[in-house]
Amino acid sequence: MALTAHPSCLLALLVAGLAQGIRGSLTAQDLGPQPLELKEAFKFFQRQFNRSYLTPEEHARRLDIFAHNLAQAQQLQEEDFGTAEFGVTPFSDLTEEEFGQLYGHRRAAGGVPGMGRVVGPEEPEESVPHTCDWRKVAGAISSIRNQGNCNCCWAMAAAGNIEALWGINFLKFVNVSVQELLDCGRCGNGCYGGYVWEAFLTVLNNSGVASERDYPFRANFRPHRCHAKTSNKVAWIQDFIFLPDNEQRIAQYLATYGPITVTINMKYLKLYQKGVIKASPTTCDPQFVDHSVLLVGFGSDKSEGMGAETVSSPSRHPRSTPYWILKNSWGAQWGEEGYFRLHRGSNTCGITKYPVTARVQKPNVKPQLSCPP
Ligand SMILES: *[C@@H]1O[C@H](CO)[C@@H](O)[C@H](O)[C@H]1NC(C)=O
Ligand SMILES: *[C@@H]1O[C@H](CO)[C@@H](O)[C@H](O)[C@H]1NC(C)=O
Ligand SMILES: *[C@@H]1O[C@H](CO)[C@@H](O)[C@H](O)[C@H]1NC(C)=O
Repeated sequence: MALTAHPSCLLALLVAGLAQGIRGSLTAQDLGPQPLELKEAFKFFQRQFNRSYLTPEEHARRLDIFAHNLAQAQQLQEEDFGTAEFGVTPFSDLTEEEFGQLYGHRRAAGGVPGMGRVVGPEEPEESVPHTCDWRKVAGAISSIRNQGNCNCCWAMAAAGNIEALWGINFLKFVNVSVQELLDCGRCGNGCYGGYVWEAFLTVLNNSGVASERDYPFRANFRPHRCHAKTSNKVAWIQDFIFLPDNEQRIAQYLATYGPITVTINMKYLKLYQKGVIKASPTTCDPQFVDHSVLLVGFGSDKSEGMGAETVSSPSRHPRSTPYWILKNSWGAQWGEEGYFRLHRGSNTCGITKYPVTARVQKPNVKPQLSCPP
């Protein structure tokens, strides 16, 4: 049950990709250009994401990694059942191992606290809206963060959860200090990974959390002293809860009470560009979850007009793809302006494993705002 981070599992993927012959498959696929096109694509990538390398050797090595990543993107594209597109991203010049160290959970920093799962809203038969997007409440969802050189998705997801709940419940729009959550946890330097509930325990232990402005983010692995005693608190929480592992209940809770955190298998994210990711338990293991993010809404994609299929069966309803909207912490240049979507209703990539949220009100007190459709 303990979450473990295995960059080696990510590596295994890469090795599988290599085994099937990167160069051979590259020229065969439309994503895999001829060497000249590859160089052009790499140049474009460097311009787009402002990358430069100190030596020609390093340049050559990064070009190689870039080619491997394109082949990997092609493989993900073939595996995906949804509408997602994979390809060049800000991480296209990183190996799986480098990426895992920067963006995965480096360590399992403690077990799940002994807490029962709390059933969401009291009335289980209460209907769930078709769509909900908390981003439409101005100020409720803070700007997209960037973990930079720090392995702290867990603290950023927790911070986003607390900020959203303060906005929705009290109309107080705050940015809370991620650095305080990293410095003041019981496990020491939070840049080496952690779990969302540890951030909540830290907020409870310190009777609140400082503002981002007073206690700014450092984005590095160096240990910093905890300044919780002397910082002014801008937000606090009553407690935190685990939600049931049921997507309908999660949607209902999300629509009624606000954004929650989830921890997923991030296998598909490094090379994700846009669209709805739909995976199966064999392509994206729902038990191996290694990345925490903020769930901010849900909806349904009706647009995919599957060309020939629609023509040959005109009476069929257009296909719709129900999805979750998730806020990542990899900068706004990644994904759909920092967000991504996962298929809803199939436990894609383990989204139901750890749905956790803080509470800023007494149980069952509904917020002032409801979720915009
Ligand atoms: C591009 O990267 C260089 C260092 O590699 C940095 O000095 C410069 O500020 C960056 N420019 C932008 C626009 O981010
Ligand atoms: C929160 O941070 C963002 C980006 O840094 C900034 O634009 C916004 O004004 C801040 N909000 C508050 C309430 O400080
Ligand atoms: C709570 O805070 C104190 C310092 O104020 C610290 O010594 C202790 O380790 C913290 N406990 C937890 C569970 O974070």
